[in-house]
Amino acid sequence: MFTLPPLPYAENALAPVISANTLSFHYGKHHKAYVDNLNNLAKGTEYENAALEKVINETAGKADKAPLFNNAAQIWNHTFYWNCLKGGGGGKPAGRIAQMIESDLGGYDNFRKEFAATTVSQFGSGWGWLVAEGGKLRIVKTGNAEVPFTKGAKPLLTIDVWEHAYYLDYQNRRPDYVNAVIDKLLNWDFAAENLARA
Ligand SMILES: [Fe+2]
Repeated sequence: MFTLPPLPYAENALAPVISANTLSFHYGKHHKAYVDNLNNLAKGTEYENAALEKVINETAGKADKAPLFNNAAQIWNHTFYWNCLKGGGGGKPAGRIAQMIESDLGGYDNFRKEFAATTVSQFGSGWGWLVAEGGKLRIVKTGNAEVPFTKGAKPLLTIDVWEHAYYLDYQNRRPDYVNAVIDKLLNWDFAAENLARA
């Protein structure tokens, strides 16, 4: 069966950028519901004991498998998102990822602007991503539960822009939430680990 991975920090670890109240609902209710839903949907099917990534890759783009895909991908996306954040994060990265931001994205200031603009402009629910594809960094957005790796891009960082991610703290001010996450919470060590495996 699928399980809810533990949060990598306490529920108040990202405050005041993301409150403990938001994390309590977002992790404890929303993320948990995707796990419960997937367990119900997968029960008695070929996916009951499958790896999460296998469920996602084999159900992506298949209309008759959409509920399985949506819940499996949202479990993966949220687990990844928690690891993309840390208290006292954000700011400029160092090392290879910083060099690639220079060469592929026009430097940190341009990255920051483009990552915010792309993420904020996702219409409706979805995700903004920094990915590695073909040896280069790119910034992309996906709708609803869609995840870049089903189309060959390796996720390095993500920001959740479903309203449940920010509405309790920022109401309709999505740009304020996105900018605060970029400046104060991004976990560049996690991004560097993902790049090393890309
Ligand atoms: Fe979410």
